[in-house]
Amino acid sequence: VAIIGAGLIGRKRAAALNKHDKLLVIGDIDLKSAKNLASEYSCLHTDQVKDIVKNNQIDAVIISVINKYAAQLAIDMLHSGKHVLCEKPLGITSKESKEVLSTADNSGKIIKTGFNHRYHGAMMDAKKLLSENRIGKILHIRSHYGHGGRPGMEQEWRCSKELCGGGELIDQGVHIIDLCRWFIGEDVKQVYGRTLTSFWQSNVEDNAFFHLEFDNSV
Ligand SMILES: NC(=O)c1ccc[n+]([C@@H]2O[C@H](COP(=O)([O-])OP(=O)(O)OC[C@H]3O[C@@H](n4cnc5c(N)ncnc54)[C@H](O)[C@@H]3O)[C@@H](O)[C@H]2O)c1
Repeated sequence: VAIIGAGLIGRKRAAALNKHDKLLVIGDIDLKSAKNLASEYSCLHTDQVKDIVKNNQIDAVIISVINKYAAQLAIDMLHSGKHVLCEKPLGITSKESKEVLSTADNSGKIIKTGFNHRYHGAMMDAKKLLSENRIGKILHIRSHYGHGGRPGMEQEWRCSKELCGGGELIDQGVHIIDLCRWFIGEDVKQVYGRTLTSFWQSNVEDNAFFHLEFDNSV
């Protein structure tokens, strides 16, 4: 396994690997970050994507970089014959995400998105109750989700349209959209929404409200 992106999530993914996985390389454009994390796992580090592309010992790559670069890296890794776990969002536009999916289809390699909320205990229990027909049909889902703020957050990549692709909707909202699609098991038919920038001095939204209607009218 290789990890590209040695930040908060790269660190968590490294810690989550089990004894059957062998972490070979950690990559980051910031060589110091790659080196620091690699030193904890006694593996190689690099700031060059090509080192990972060329390494035939690597079967799977975890991509945990900032959103702007994730899709292209996923495509490069799939082209080089590696399976990919890419952090959410899979791309910063639907077009980018579809390109990643079609590259995976054509390469025969597995692509997974880091929709880890599906693996929260309560979500797994709810899904089980639903699939065992123990709680009847879903009529609607109501969900709200917040994100911790911190002084200076407006300076971070999460508040940059260019680096993040948007604001809270693409950052946290994707988890809600994913969970709704997972629970309901249908495609979205109609969307109504509104985004607002209410608090941070930033060019992306810090609040998003949306209503999804699915093919089965849930
Ligand atoms: N699944 C979840 O619950 C969850 C939670 C938080 C973040 N995320 C996602 O994980 C990704 C990373 O978030 P984070 O909080 O770890 O960010 P972070 O800023 O802590 O770390 C990002 C790292 O990527 C590196 N990087 C940036 N561009 C790169 C490139 N082109 N090539 C190689 N390295 C590059 C940076 O130097 C940094 O070390 C984001 O896509 C984010 O949306 C997912």
